[in-house]
Amino acid sequence: MAKKLHIKTYGCQMNVYDSERIAEVLGPIGFELSDTPDDADMVILNTCHIRERAAEKVFSELGRLRGKKAEKESGGGRMILGVTGCVAQAQGEEVTRRAPYVDMVFGPQTYHRLPEMVARAAREHGHVLDIDFPEDSKFDSLPPARNVSGAAAFLAVQEGCDKFCTYCVVPYTRGAEYSRPPEGVVAEARILVDAGAKEITLLGQNVNAYHGEAADGSEWNLARLIRDVAEIDGLERIRYTTSYPAEINDDLITAHAEVAKLMPYLHLPIQSGSDAVLNAMNRQHTVDAFKDVVQKLRAARPDLSLSSDFIVGFPGETDADFEATLKLVEDVTFIQAYSFKYSSRPGTPAALMDGQIPEAVKAERLARLQALLDTQSLDFNLRAVGQVLPVLLDRTGKHTGQLIGRSPYMQAVVVDAPEALLHTIQNVTITQAGPNSLMGELAGGGQRACA
Ligand code: 5AD
Ligand code: SF4
Repeated sequence: MAKKLHIKTYGCQMNVYDSERIAEVLGPIGFELSDTPDDADMVILNTCHIRERAAEKVFSELGRLRGKKAEKESGGGRMILGVTGCVAQAQGEEVTRRAPYVDMVFGPQTYHRLPEMVARAAREHGHVLDIDFPEDSKFDSLPPARNVSGAAAFLAVQEGCDKFCTYCVVPYTRGAEYSRPPEGVVAEARILVDAGAKEITLLGQNVNAYHGEAADGSEWNLARLIRDVAEIDGLERIRYTTSYPAEINDDLITAHAEVAKLMPYLHLPIQSGSDAVLNAMNRQHTVDAFKDVVQKLRAARPDLSLSSDFIVGFPGETDADFEATLKLVEDVTFIQAYSFKYSSRPGTPAALMDGQIPEAVKAERLARLQALLDTQSLDFNLRAVGQVLPVLLDRTGKHTGQLIGRSPYMQAVVVDAPEALLHTIQNVTITQAGPNSLMGELAGGGQRACA
């Protein structure tokens, strides 16, 4: 059911125009204009500051709305109260001081961030915005569980996202970041290992933002959690996904150097190689900061290899911005990557940005980027030929007598091997490489099938 939005506009024509824009931004997240504040789910005062009296009028209106807000809340409802326009700009702090029950004070430059502000205001009161974003599982869900066997298990440790990248619906649909308490995670990891897991992937939308509160009140970061899970006998491999570049901290980098069970493969989405685009995406990292993190990770674990996510054709992306993405890929090198054409999601700020890119341009950029990424994957796979890699054999292949597993770098490796070796780690000599998988032969010296 549509939520009711009442906007009261004071002053000039400019404000009338702005109020229309506000309604336009909030429409896709489920707000419909109502001509009365009574029973509204959100009331916005678009204010005028031209005379002292004009500002005072706003404060007395806020006083009246306070009563309506309290009334709505006593019935279990919620009224978000916002102040924008010139009073917000000139006397924002005074509004917050004199009317602390106002949820949002925002200037005209920030209308495009309104969905984010509304989501944040709702969260502060423990509510999640009830928005019907059409789901697009390609973008919005956690990484799809690949053929999960008992040997390679997933363990959710964190959910939700507070980053509000301007193209993304996850912060609205999945709510605020939440980390599970560490004791529960470690206990579940033990259960998985007892049930035969050799590899555990710690999962979260922003897994490296993990900050679980332990029973003794201490806060664990992801590095601490990894170290504890690594103590579990019988567990051979740990991975974690998905990470936000700006939140890779020194503890995590050190863990890559010190925890042997932590695999040398990391999915670290960058999205674009242009600072202007990253900024428009509201990503909290620059290209140089990303490269810096990669350099530190590689110093800690020299064989660390990366995968990433890219979006091409973000609104306003110029040819030069796109070339910068290709340059970044050349500089950093990725052994695998997911790349997408920007897809407009109504309700997200980017959907209303100027400079939307034609489909044909997006398609051409995507093809060029993918061609480059494919050569890097193939190069990496070809370099494995002749090497012996430990492979966790976790499923049967297409042909009888074949097993498939993952190398430490997540490469799929196809081996002729007896089914008794399923769910074990075996050394495999790599004999052939393609863009998506490797072929190999058992080299001996792996784990025995049964203890
Ligand atoms: N358009 C294109 N790609 C998107 N992603 C998320 N939202 C969008 C969108 N609107 C991509 C990002 C993210 C991955 C899971 O999906 O690259 O990292
Ligand atoms: Fe979406 Fe950005 Fe959060 Fe990833 S970090 S889930 S892209 S908002």
